[in-house]
Amino acid sequence: MMDGAADLDGRVIEVQAEALACVDLGALEELRLRWLGKKGEITGLLKSLGALPAEERARRGAAINALRDSATAAWESRKGELERKAEDAALDAGWIDVTAPSGARPAGRLHPITLLLEEVIDHFTGLGFEVATGPEIEDEFHNFDALNIPKDHPARDVWDTFYTDRREIPRTHTSSVQIRAMQTRKPPIRVISPGRVFRNETIDATHHASFNQVEGLLVDRHVTIAHLKHTLETLVAKLMGRKVETRFRPAFYPFVEPGLDLDVQCVFCAGVGCSICKGSGWIELIPGGLVHPKVLDACGLDPDQWQGFAFGMGFDRMVMMRYGIDDIRRLYDGRLQLVRQF
Ligand code: DAH
Repeated sequence: MMDGAADLDGRVIEVQAEALACVDLGALEELRLRWLGKKGEITGLLKSLGALPAEERARRGAAINALRDSATAAWESRKGELERKAEDAALDAGWIDVTAPSGARPAGRLHPITLLLEEVIDHFTGLGFEVATGPEIEDEFHNFDALNIPKDHPARDVWDTFYTDRREIPRTHTSSVQIRAMQTRKPPIRVISPGRVFRNETIDATHHASFNQVEGLLVDRHVTIAHLKHTLETLVAKLMGRKVETRFRPAFYPFVEPGLDLDVQCVFCAGVGCSICKGSGWIELIPGGLVHPKVLDACGLDPDQWQGFAFGMGFDRMVMMRYGIDDIRRLYDGRLQLVRQF
């Protein structure tokens, strides 16, 4: 007679093979329900025991229990394996390959003011000018008196001047460095002097309380306005990278005689008129003139022997035109975006 439990040996092998064939935890759970669940195979086998004679029932019962233990062991061992596999996959997903080439990194750039200043310095040093600097906190003599702007003279009101408690002046212009250059050098003198200046201005798109100027000064014999005109025209063409329309207008500055303003045609609207040039088609760019005899005199130079030209450009405006920045505050607020380059 057939052994009452022989068929179950085959089932042990069956459940073990099925467990190994499960490739993920979902499939393994299905296996558990199918074999070990309340309505599963083993429960079915146990239910069929009741119909058997007592002696056979005990033997087959023990065999079914053995099958259940084998099925549970197969399930548990495969579960452990699949869980480790899942963990490994998660680790793999987060794995950092230190030998992989890195992606692009955001890099710092030079500020447009620095970039353009380098060009200006390059241009002028090529013409034999040297770079001169002066203190940002000035005295009244260098900022005003020696520049033929006497105390109590209304001309002083033009510069919205800050004063410290000790009546020192955060310099209102780089013209103060002209004076220092003439005091410390013997002609012929050729200097440019870039630097920060300070004015008590309400800040808006075209005004700032702190901005940059580049001063220029040349002292020699027989200097005329033609030298200044040529110098400025070449400078503007160089900085704009092309020839732009310019015009000169007479203007008054106490430290030059005659004085003039150089305007360039607005690069934002090509002279048609826009909000940046306030509808005029021109942008006032560089004031200058021939150094006033009183200024030469105040610096100990004989005006009968020496003449000079000077200019002082608002450098921020130049940078804005060159790089298409339409708000001066952008130059200083750390959110600079270059819109276009002319
Ligand atoms: N210092 C003047 C200003 O800030 C600009 C200026 C005008 C400078 C004429 C010059 C000059 O050297 O000749 O308003």
